[in-house]
Amino acid sequence: RSLPPVVFHWFPFIGSSISYGNDPINFFLKCREKYGDVFTFILFGRRVTVALGPKGSNFVLGGKLAQMSAEEAYTHLTTPVFGKDVVYDVPNEVLMEQKKFVKVGLSLENFRAYVGMIENEVTTFLNTDSAFRTFQMDDINEWGSFHSFRVLAEITILTASRTLQGKEVRNGLDKTFAQRYNDLDGGFTPINFLFPNLPLESYRKRDKAHQAMSDFYVDLIRKRKTGESNEAEHDMIAALMQQSYKNGRELSEREIAHIMIALLMAGQHTSSTTGTWTLLHIADKPEVGEALYKEQVENFGTGIEGEFRPMTYEELKALPVLDAVIREALRIHPPIHSIMRKVISDVPVPPSLSAPSKDSTFVVPKGYFVLSSPAVSQVDPRVWRDSLEFDHTRWFEDDGVAQQAYKTYADENGEKVDYGFGAISKGTESPYQPFGAGRHRCIGEQFAYLQIGAIIATIVRKLELRLEGGMPAHNYHTMITTPKDPCDIRYRRRHF
Ligand code: HEM
Repeated sequence: RSLPPVVFHWFPFIGSSISYGNDPINFFLKCREKYGDVFTFILFGRRVTVALGPKGSNFVLGGKLAQMSAEEAYTHLTTPVFGKDVVYDVPNEVLMEQKKFVKVGLSLENFRAYVGMIENEVTTFLNTDSAFRTFQMDDINEWGSFHSFRVLAEITILTASRTLQGKEVRNGLDKTFAQRYNDLDGGFTPINFLFPNLPLESYRKRDKAHQAMSDFYVDLIRKRKTGESNEAEHDMIAALMQQSYKNGRELSEREIAHIMIALLMAGQHTSSTTGTWTLLHIADKPEVGEALYKEQVENFGTGIEGEFRPMTYEELKALPVLDAVIREALRIHPPIHSIMRKVISDVPVPPSLSAPSKDSTFVVPKGYFVLSSPAVSQVDPRVWRDSLEFDHTRWFEDDGVAQQAYKTYADENGEKVDYGFGAISKGTESPYQPFGAGRHRCIGEQFAYLQIGAIIATIVRKLELRLEGGMPAHNYHTMITTPKDPCDIRYRRRHF
């Protein structure tokens, strides 16, 4: 047995932290040239074994529970933010039950109700936000500009709270909830992952904001129970209030509160950056914007220019151009570049992935982290034609690479998946995994497509978009891969 090769570094504790932190994808590609698909680097004293390519993803995402643990990798970051007794503060089988509870809230019936709500929020935002001043003026030929990431971040939290989070959260956004959210978010950064407890103001603010937010949700759950508030309808809180564990115990108020915080954090940055990158590409390639607009007119036009009828969820889901544009943005800009697990008992690396010689295997020892980066496979020129080019039409090629990659990936998606114990399927070995794979796979994918799709459709109906100076670079210093400044988009209103 031998250890995977260690990436060369000058300083023992710091290791490769700086190169990884500045540009993980480039760092992985350089290491792959030197060491192959499996190598270990030092991240502030931690030993992290990277496994690249679809087989590498399979190794990490399809790993056995007895060998690899997500909770041990993430709990120091997530528990102070989400709170106790949920997600990575509980054993894996409890998380699996909690994911099932959340899936109940992500129902078709709820999704049908959400489309109109999202359209409505986006329209109000465009009519009132100061960035869209020219949109609100009489001169239709006037060009204005907006900061893509700021605008999408606001629209995302407005629409997520109006739909999943519930009316009380939506109403609170104009008040203290927004500040608490910002403070909590300030404690959800790569620094918090690396150094769970520093005597810094941002950590104190995080803890205070968590407490206040947790109390806020508990209070609103109680008000619903006593009938003082009847905002229930289609949101996640209402769904969670109906659920109980296999042993018959109902979810406690705190658990519901903490799951709601977890969902807020899981969905906000991932969806807002995906929306931003999608919009940036549309602005960069006006022909994509026109294709999307045409799709809207053909499906929802009333015959009067600039007038559209509302979309249903089923119709939104079946728009090929919109779907492909979002899928392609997620291919080049998956929000999560590193998926980690902590090794809890020595794991052999399959020889088909990497081996020191034909008679021996690598072993990743207990105490190491393993890391999978689907982002690398998603732009691998050995897999994808013009791999860095944004080309949504690749998803239309019958049985092209994209179709096949999506098939293996999608096998695991949708209703067939059993998030119960030991359910792992072949989707763990696919070159397209923006939502991960295996037991920790995302359950928010359909909601994200609905949210981003309805946002983009509403914007495209109303605005022409342009980008000057080309696509912005990736900023990897944030938890989720965001665009670097400047990322302003120019816009012009299409109609009165
Ligand atoms: C897990 C990506 C939106 C809830 C994941 C994972 C990825 C991911 C890569 C796997 C993490 C791992 O294996 O360590 C994304 C992307 C999104 C998105 C790209 C949007 C474009 C959402 C939304 C929600 C959500 C909107 C909630 C409504 C979750 C949950 C998990 C998860 C509950 C499971 C964590 C686990 O089992 O350990 N997501 N996500 N995500 N995501 Fe998402």
